This record gives sequence, C-alpha cells and structure tokens, in this order.
Amino acid sequence: MGIMEILYTVLIAVHIVCWIGALVLINPISQEIRKGASHAIAAALLTGLILVGIGEAADLRDYNHIKIGIKLVVALVATVVAFIVAKKDNPNPQARTLFGLVSANILLAILW
Ligand code: HEM
Repeated sequence: MGIMEILYTVLIAVHIVCWIGALVLINPISQEIRKGASHAIAAALLTGLILVGIGEAADLRDYNHIKIGIKLVVALVATVVAFIVAKKDNPNPQARTLFGLVSANILLAILW
C-alpha cells in the first residue's frame, strides 16, 4: 500500500468522523442544533472534495461522477442551510432538514 493510499484511507476516516460529528450535534426529535454542527458538515464537504482531488490525481479510484455530483449538491445545500440556521434559537425545525440531508448522503454513499 503506497503513501497516497494510506493518506486516502486516513482522509476517509476523517470524512466519516465529520458527518458522525454532524449527526451527533443535530437532534431531529428535540429539534436542536448544537454549536459546531455547521462546521462538522462543512468539514465533511471539504474532506469529500479533497478525497476526490487525491483520488483523481493519484488515480486511486474510478469515481461514478453522477453519484459524486449529487453527493456534492446535497452536501452544499446542507452546508448552506447549516450556516444560515446555526445562529437561530432552538428548537429549530431545520434540525430535521439537516438530519435528513446528511442521512440522505450517507445512504447515497453506501448504497449507490
Ligand atoms: C454530508 C455529506 C457527506 C456524507 C454524509 C458522506 C458520506 C460518506 C460515506 C458514508 C462514505 C464511506 C462509504 C463510501 O466509501 O462510499 C464516504 C466516502 C467518500 N465520500 Fe462522502 N459524504 C459526504 C460528502 C461528500 C462530498 C461533498 C464528497 C465529494 C464531492 C464526498 C466524496 C467522498 C469520497 C471520494 C469518498 C471515498 C469513496 C471511496 O474511495 O471508496 N463525500 N462519504
């Protein structure tokens, strides 16, 4: 396993920890969004982009570009919504929107 492969694997771990962090900080039942949720979602977006960059540059993966594109759009919407609603008081109905968007991307990543 080359150094790029190891770096790529570490980044996948960081990527996954980012959206686990987002899910932990968003409660769709009490409709509460904790501080840091927007940063966790933005970090998932950023690490995803870096993954694709490294994967393409080092030729580690053959991506399904439609899947990546849809994931990117979902993550962008989630990030924008997260930063808009971050400063609003809880309970915040957008907690459900955010939880749904992040969950949708997890399903997309795993099932497609
Ligand atoms: C909330 C946002 C996101 C969530 C919940 C999410 C979820 C996941 C999950 C569950 C995995 C591991 C399963 C797999 O490898 O397919 C993964 C890997 C990955 N994600 Fe994301 N992701 C998000 C955003 C993004 C974005 C915006 C991009 C790029 C534009 C991206 C690119 C990738 C790549 C390249 C991998 C590694 C795939 C591989 O090489 O096997 N992700 N993501």
